[in-house]
Amino acid sequence: MRIIKSPQEMQQTALELKRSGKTIGFVPTMGFLHEGHLSLMKIARPECDVLVVSIFVNPTQFGPNEDLAAYPRDFERDEQLCEKAGVDIVFYPEPGTMYFDDASVWVDEETLSLGLCGGSRPGHFRGVCTVVAKLFNLVQADLAVFGEKDAQQLRVIERMVRDLNIPIKIIRGPIVREGDGLAMSSRNKYLSEMERAEAVCLFQSLEKARALFGVGESNADTLKSDMIRQIEKTSGAVDYIELVDDETLCPVTTVDRPVLMTLAVCFSGTRLIDNAVLAE
Ligand code: PAF
Repeated sequence: MRIIKSPQEMQQTALELKRSGKTIGFVPTMGFLHEGHLSLMKIARPECDVLVVSIFVNPTQFGPNEDLAAYPRDFERDEQLCEKAGVDIVFYPEPGTMYFDDASVWVDEETLSLGLCGGSRPGHFRGVCTVVAKLFNLVQADLAVFGEKDAQQLRVIERMVRDLNIPIKIIRGPIVREGDGLAMSSRNKYLSEMERAEAVCLFQSLEKARALFGVGESNADTLKSDMIRQIEKTSGAVDYIELVDDETLCPVTTVDRPVLMTLAVCFSGTRLIDNAVLAE
């Protein structure tokens, strides 16, 4: 397994691989890898000749009061996990090499990014789209795998790829959960013991809404209120709970088409997200 730190070397290597007829699969990450990331690598591995994983804590997707400095990092452990997962190249750019000081071009998605996480984290998806577009150009991948836990991110990236005609196939990777149902996330490590036990309420509220829908409840407000009640039993503070059209991400009043139930809940400073799709 090769570790490449320079963006120029990454692009040069990728272009050479493409010239020699190799297909490139890509899993972009911010490191501190867990089973969720490994599942994305497992999906990508058989689909390509060369598997590239990037590890880059992208500063432009963090707001001024967010956890950029504290974001967990452990490159040695990540490197070992990548090796075991059969990764060929880890792209691990040095901070400061990905953006020019006077960078003035950004990628802005203007519809799907506005609500949900985009509403609570202004500028977040601008940072995500810009870094992902840059990574796609550096890695020259034929396909990339993104996790469904970040449901809005996934849809925003798919829209960017569609609207900018980026020649890459996006594959959706299912959410990977802990034994009790908590979605895997690098941020779970911030939770205290009590918060960790309570954090399962995100999954439980989604499951409860699914069960209510299963017995005929299709009113979005009723489902939402029930989810809020579940979260309010814990110390978690609801950032948002929404039922939105799975494609447009616009709020719905009735579940009469595929609907994404999505929520963000804060435990002390730790913001957790989860989602599930309700389909008839
Ligand atoms: O999902 C993430 O880890 C990040 O948003 C991504 C896609 C690697 C871009 O920095």
